[in-house]
Formats: sequence, C-alpha cells, structure tokens
Amino acid sequence: MCGITGYTGPRQASRILVEGLKRLEYRGYDSAGIAVQQENLANDGSIELTVIKQVGKIAALRQAVPKDLAGHCGIGHTRWATHGEVTQTNAHPHSSCDGRISIVHNGIIENYQALKEMLEHSGCSFKSETDSEVIAHLISYHYDGDLELALKAALKHLKGTFGISCICADEPGRIVGARNGSPLVVGVGEGEMFLASDVTAMLAHTKRVVYLNDGEVVSLWPHEFRISDSDDQAVDPKIDHVTWELDAIEKEGFACYMEKEIFEQPDSIERALKGRMDFEYSMAKLGGLNLSKKELHAKQRVRVIAAGTSWHAGLVGCHLIESIARLPALAELASELRYRNPVVEPETLYLSVSQSGETADTLYAMREVQRRGGTVLGICNVVGSTIARESDGGIYVHSGPEIAVASTKAFTSQLAAFYLLTLSLARMHDMSHHEGAVFLQQLRDIPGLVKKALEQRDRIQVLAKKYAHNQDFLFLGRGLLYPIALEGALKLKEISYIHAEGYAAGEIKHGPIALVSPETPSVFLVPNDHLREKTITNMKEIKARGGPVIAIASEKDTEVAAIADDFIPVPDCDSRFQPFTMIIPLQLFAYFCALELGKDVDQPRNLAKSVTVE
Ligand code: M6R
Repeated sequence: MCGITGYTGPRQASRILVEGLKRLEYRGYDSAGIAVQQENLANDGSIELTVIKQVGKIAALRQAVPKDLAGHCGIGHTRWATHGEVTQTNAHPHSSCDGRISIVHNGIIENYQALKEMLEHSGCSFKSETDSEVIAHLISYHYDGDLELALKAALKHLKGTFGISCICADEPGRIVGARNGSPLVVGVGEGEMFLASDVTAMLAHTKRVVYLNDGEVVSLWPHEFRISDSDDQAVDPKIDHVTWELDAIEKEGFACYMEKEIFEQPDSIERALKGRMDFEYSMAKLGGLNLSKKELHAKQRVRVIAAGTSWHAGLVGCHLIESIARLPALAELASELRYRNPVVEPETLYLSVSQSGETADTLYAMREVQRRGGTVLGICNVVGSTIARESDGGIYVHSGPEIAVASTKAFTSQLAAFYLLTLSLARMHDMSHHEGAVFLQQLRDIPGLVKKALEQRDRIQVLAKKYAHNQDFLFLGRGLLYPIALEGALKLKEISYIHAEGYAAGEIKHGPIALVSPETPSVFLVPNDHLREKTITNMKEIKARGGPVIAIASEKDTEVAAIADDFIPVPDCDSRFQPFTMIIPLQLFAYFCALELGKDVDQPRNLAKSVTVE
C-alpha cells in the first residue's frame, strides 16, 4: 500500500527521499512523488516547495528529479490508488492552492466529499480526484504561522484513517506528521531526522526509531523532534533500536527478493526457534505471552484471526493445537469475524497472526475481540507494528524483513511459532515429558530438513517450465496438508496469475473433480501417515479422468512416485512436521512458473505487501 518518507537535515533531501521510496517499493504502488523545500535563488532567496510526481516505477521518478535539486527538507510518497485513477495529478504530494503547503497521506478520508464541498465553497480549487487533497487545503485554511497547530486543527475535521506528513514553505527544516490507523515512524539521526511509514525506508541511515501511536502528532527539525498526544500533552518518546541489518533488505546476489527469502528459510526458522526450546522441561520458552501459567492453562479454546498466508499458518496451528494439545481450535478470516457480531468468551485464547502487523482486517477484528473483553496474543514479524503493540502479549517470529509481496519465510516462521505454542499448551494438558522431548527434537531438526527440501530447486524449475503454460491448477491435501495446499495455490495465483484452487483432497469428488482434464494438472501433497492411502486413492481418481498429477511425498515413497506423472521428493519426517517440508516445493514451483511467464515476481500486479485498507 502507500508509503511515506520524510527527511530534514544537512544532506540533499531529494536523494534520501527517493532512495527511501525505493526501499518502500515492495509495499506495492502505482505512482510516486516528492516535495522539497528549496531556496528560490532567482528571486529573493525565499523558500518555495518543488513538487515532482510520476506514474509508474521509482526509476521514473528518479529520472524526473534533477540531480542537483537543492533543499534539505522534504517529504515523499508511493501511492496505491484508492480514490481516483493512476495519474500524475492524483499522485502525492498534494499542495494547497498557493503551493506553500504540501502533504502526503496514507489511509482513507471517509468524509472527504463533504469537506471538499465545504472547501470549494470557501474558494479552494481542487486539482486531483483523491480524498487526500482535502488535507492540504484544510491545513492551509487553518494556517497561521505554525504548521503543527494548523495540522491539529485540520485533523479535527477528518474521519477515517491516516498517516500524514506535511511541510510548509514558511517553516524551513520542519516536517509535521500525524498518525491515526496508518503507521508512522520517526528515525532519529545525528543532526538529521527521518519520518516514514516503515523502518526499511530509513534503515540505511539510522536504527534509532520512535513508533508513533494513534492520535499522536510529531514535529521534526534536524536536531530535535517533539511528540504530542490527542489531548495535546507532550509525550516522552521511547526510542527503540531496530535489530534488522541493512543486508536483510538487500537482494544479496539473488535475482529477486522472493527467491532470496525462500532460500533463507533454514536460517529464519532457526531464528524463530532460537532460545525458545527448553529441553530440560520439554517445554517452549515464550517470554512475551504476558499470561501466567495459570491464566494460560485456564484457556479452553483457541481462535486464530488472520488473513491470506497468515490465515493458512493459523489453519495449520489450529490443527496442531486441537490434535496435539487437545484444545478446540479454529482459524477464522479476520474480514469475516469482525462483521459477524462474534461471541467472545473469556476462556478463549485469541491469536492475531500477521507478518506485517498492520493488516487492517486483522487489526480491526482484533480490536473488536478486545472490545468484548477477549485476550488477544499477536504472532507478528514486524517489531513495533500496530498489531504487536496493541495485542495483550505475543510471539515475534523473527523472520527478518520480508520484502517480496508473496509471503514465504514469514509463513514458515509463523509455523515455528505455532509448533512452540502447541508444545506449551500440550505440556500443560496431557503431553508427557518424554513426548515433549521427542517433539522438541523433531522441531530442532526442521531447519536441516528445509535445507534439504530446497535441494530440489533444479527439478522444480524443470517442472515449472513444463507446466507454467497451463491455465488452471488444483492443489490438494488432507489434514495438516490441506492448509499447505491452500497456500501453494495462493502462491501460484499471486505471482504467476495462473488460476489455482486449493482444496481438501477428500472434497474433490463433491464438485471440483468436474474441472479435471488433461489441461488441468493437480498437485497432490501426500502425507506419510494414516491419510496417505486415502490421498493416493484421490490421486488415482484424478488419473482415471485424464488429469496430470504432480505428487509431493516423502523421498521414500516409491509407490507415489510410480503413480504420479511427476514426482517431487521431500525429506522424510514425522507427518506432524510435514507442513514445513511440503511448502518448500510449492513456493519454488510458484516462483519458477512466474519466472517462466516473465512476471514481476516481487511486485505482482494489483497487490500490496501490507493491506492497510479494508
Ligand atoms: O501482513 P499479514 O500477514 O497480515 O498479511 C496478510 C495477507 O495480506 C498476506 O498474507 C497476503 O495474503 C500475502 N500476499 C500472501 O503471500
């Protein structure tokens, strides 16, 4: 979704703003722009705002920005269109009629139409079709020499969500920002300050950051910043230290981020497990849950709230919790839960699962549950994200920054968190010390098994070449592998735009089998447990109807290898842990299909990395 950058300090602002926007590319966008305070040398040396905007990639904006564009303070934006088409005029920044104030905005202003009419009535003329432009005119309407006061007055009119950043030609070196529902982070440098929607935009310059809360307004100058809350009280800022390294947001020799992130999984899973496996007590050490053992033990049920890939991780997690820890568990789509007037019970443990920690559907659903007295733990990747901060406790999955829109390493790290939580809950109920020890040993082996699964890279690339030109795919699995089938289908859809349906293998005869034809390949995930025979029967049903079958099964499974048209072996392991090994070939298959079709793997069309609108 949209991204914000801001810089004030001694360096050339335009360079830092554009470089920051480049780091935010992964969020998804269709146009970009910057506004910089610049001295008008031809005139009296007074400050003016130079605004440059372009449709398309950051490369186009970079080209449009003069290399020698002076100015040490400015704001930048990547836009993902919501109100108004993708045009240069609709791109941000937007400016007041006199051009003295420029703003960038993430979020949605719900009452913009009424505000626009009111402002037009008072003489403002609007240039764009966006909801955001009203903010520039409102600030200008209230401006009387102090940008922060004017922004605060403007905010009183706004209904909706926003992360706003603005500058004024009359206040050199000052940026003012405000947050309500869309993240904003202050970066504290040496004699320079940054403001962005995401720490990756400033990671090259500083790791000292302050996450703004909803209702807060910040003023930044090169040497200082001050934050006030919605009651206009000064806030004592808490400076956090970002632990992500710059390398983590570089491609490091890989063709694209998705490939890098797929191959990083042995390490990212290791990080998710690190320091959390207690072999003495056969337990998991999850320090951030903020629940006493008694409180956790008293929970009778588990409900997961999530979207997309995180929901798939939740489906696996619930299956584990119910079958191993013996607590009823259900994973629900956040966008559904919020609007169905849910019954929230105190003895249910709610888990809000999100890579970004900013997904609007998940955040709002979680708030709905909290409003009704529910305890919500977050399972998040991004430290300091809204879901992480607003949840009552939780587990960070530590997968490191995930840049590719298609989630891969965050998924397996979320799985790791669920395995740890399952162990904790199971050991509180009826799992023995010995069973816990076996479970932990198997979990410890997962990074090695994932590494081995990745060795099938070349075989999968060949298969992708063979199948990428098919229009439709079925992905089929049972039990723990059903969510993996859903995830495999989602990966293929999002980056290669091939239609793919994930289905429970036992369900195909209830409808989807009608789709089977020589042109519709089925990808089968065959477990090595009591569901194996049943899955093989489903495979044969497809084969009997002329459908090509690609089977993924244990390397030892010669029978499956013989039945399938194509076979991808995965390292053999206890079936409870097969989600880890089975998802790897599916991620690689989607990746190589997209490459084969020449798609933009990291930034697929229409998608955004973190979906901050409903
Ligand atoms: O950041 P989140 O985990 O909350 O995001 C949820 C979904 O938007 C996300 O998983 C999406 O489905 C990905 N593009 C999947 O690859």
